[in-house]
Amino acid sequence: MHDDIQEILLSEEVIQNKVRELGKQLSQEYEGKNPLCICVLKGAAPFMADLVRRMEIPLEMDFMAVSSYGAYTQSSGVVRIVKDLDTPVEGRHVLVVEDIIDSGLTLSYLLELLRGRNTASAKVVTLLDKPTRRTTGLKPDYSGFEVPDAFVVGYGLDYAEKYRNLPYIGVLKEEIYSV
Ligand code: PRP
Ligand code: MN
Ligand code: MG
Repeated sequence: MHDDIQEILLSEEVIQNKVRELGKQLSQEYEGKNPLCICVLKGAAPFMADLVRRMEIPLEMDFMAVSSYGAYTQSSGVVRIVKDLDTPVEGRHVLVVEDIIDSGLTLSYLLELLRGRNTASAKVVTLLDKPTRRTTGLKPDYSGFEVPDAFVVGYGLDYAEKYRNLPYIGVLKEEIYSV
């Protein structure tokens, strides 16, 4: 285990079993629909990469990068698009792939934007859900795990851009972020 991690919340095996389960469920849901899976950079990249390999149906992948104005903890709900999709989404079934939903601001904005482009459907799959931090009415359509309001990193989730490559999800030691 990494020195900066206090405890492992979700092991690699637990994560991969869940990803397999979600992949199976989504394969049934999106059979014949050629969904466009949209990865929200950067946190969702590892989950997206694993999830699409567990979806045994034709699908397409695209990537978006967004950034909240101001400090993350006092986000205004205004999201700036840093990298837009390459793919037109009109009439498409889009599935937004996220690593975690916190306040729900990022996704509320994204879903509104996508639906404004006349998608056939726009749904969300998130690996982690932190409902206690929600400030919007957003509910994921598919969710892997509910997590407590702890500082979690790994499997895409960062602290100051670090720890994204950990194969598990762990709680960061307080001394790392409280300096
Ligand atoms: C994190 C996370 C989600 C978002 C969730 O991304 O990956 O995308 O915040 O927060 P919200 O529900 O309060 O909007 P972040 O902005 O840290 O960028 P990153 O994915 O590049 O780490
Ligand atoms: Mn993110
Ligand atoms: Mg981040």
